[in-house]
Amino acid sequence: MELPPDIERILLDEATIQRRVEELAAQISADYAGTAADLILVGVLKGSFIFLADLARRLTVPHAVDFIALSSYASGAVRSDAVRLIMDTRLPVTGRPVLIVEDIVDTGHTLAYLVRNFDARHPASLRTCTLTSKPARHEVPVQLDYLGFEIPDVWVVGYGLDYADRYRTLPYIAALKPEVYRSKA
Ligand code: PRP
Repeated sequence: MELPPDIERILLDEATIQRRVEELAAQISADYAGTAADLILVGVLKGSFIFLADLARRLTVPHAVDFIALSSYASGAVRSDAVRLIMDTRLPVTGRPVLIVEDIVDTGHTLAYLVRNFDARHPASLRTCTLTSKPARHEVPVQLDYLGFEIPDVWVVGYGLDYADRYRTLPYIAALKPEVYRSKA
């Protein structure tokens, strides 16, 4: 397969991702079967949109989909731990089971912020689901209830993940060539 020029190698191919998404959906469906209120999936924009779409379509329990948009104050390859809410969810979550859906946990600040923020809204329960996590990069303890893959500390793109808003729609997750992001940092 010919890779785009900025891509170094594929870390998780399409079949591997799809198999894992299927497993996560089966586990979530089993865990939420019979809950009194419908599950609300909260996708964290933009990165989660593809994972959320694939996951949600495989759930066998009733669920609603909502989104939240956050932005870190960082730009380019330099991240910061300050998180800003730029678009909130629309559904009321009080008394409903909530599952936050992320594409990646890097430093963990975003997910830690979201768990604090949603806890304060008194959902019936609050869990997190992330497709990927970089344990080597975590700076704060994070609650990972459903985890797809642990990945190494390299810049990854594809399946929702971007570099400067490129490559989100690749069907696989791949490592970017280091010279691509080093030259812009
Ligand atoms: C990514 C990802 C998470 C966050 C994780 O979003 O989707 O929300 O970073 O990083 P952290 O664990 O260090 O907080 P990003 O800010 O790149 O925005 P995007 O999803 O719109 O690309």
